[in-house]
Amino acid sequence: MEILGIDIGGSGVKGALVNTDTAEVLTERRRISTPQPSTPPAVAKTVQRICQHFNWQGAIGCGFPSAVQRGIVKTAANVHKDWIGTDAVSLFSEATGCQVVVLNDADAAGLAEVRFGAGKGRQGVILVVTIGTGLGTALFVDGRLVPNLEMGHIEIRGKDAETRASDAARKRKNMSRKEWAGYFNEYLCRLNALLYPDLIILGGGASKKFDKFKKYLTLETEIVPAEFLNEAGIVGAALAAELKFGQAQPETVGNPGIV
Ligand code: BGC
Repeated sequence: MEILGIDIGGSGVKGALVNTDTAEVLTERRRISTPQPSTPPAVAKTVQRICQHFNWQGAIGCGFPSAVQRGIVKTAANVHKDWIGTDAVSLFSEATGCQVVVLNDADAAGLAEVRFGAGKGRQGVILVVTIGTGLGTALFVDGRLVPNLEMGHIEIRGKDAETRASDAARKRKNMSRKEWAGYFNEYLCRLNALLYPDLIILGGGASKKFDKFKKYLTLETEIVPAEFLNEAGIVGAALAAELKFGQAQPETVGNPGIV
């Protein structure tokens, strides 16, 4: 099935058509900077522009950088506070005239990795951490998603983890890769002590640099970079829409738990 996958982030909104049977990205990515302020109407307009760019009328899957419970946005760490309580599914459906699924962006990226990428065929507990403007986390148990984990905001030495260990924090504070990796390693050790995952997959923009910082990571737990790199969010959002609207095939690794 062909689906338009859209990844809404704190700095950019990216979309591409995805073949959900193969997880292949079929078109070039269309990226538009996230409007500032990133209010609901402004972001809806951007989603509409991406949809128009592809002349799209089919289903759309949208990853959104917040906890999203049954289409309603619950938090707003890196988007305008007006999002809290907004029905993103209705808003984007009205803006595009298409059927839309909205889920947390890290959950979307995780879905792509668990079904087709670095976690394919793996059982047990998989933790996906996306490193970008924020820190996104997604948890899968035998392939089934536990939605909206929101571990980017655990408190470490008195501060929200995201303020030291995200990629935005590295840029904002002009940190060396090594200095940032020290904070990120501390963060991963804390997550590990809370969840004891069998596998940790690192996604988001910074995962492209995994080879440069893996030497600073001290955990014994297996840690691998995302295979879809920063396209995971687009692919996973499309997969979520397929699971909701399409004729999804029985899962090889369990029901991913999209509602
Ligand atoms: C948000 C999460 C999101 C992550 C990555 C965090 O600030 O709270 O919902 O998944 O950023 O965008």
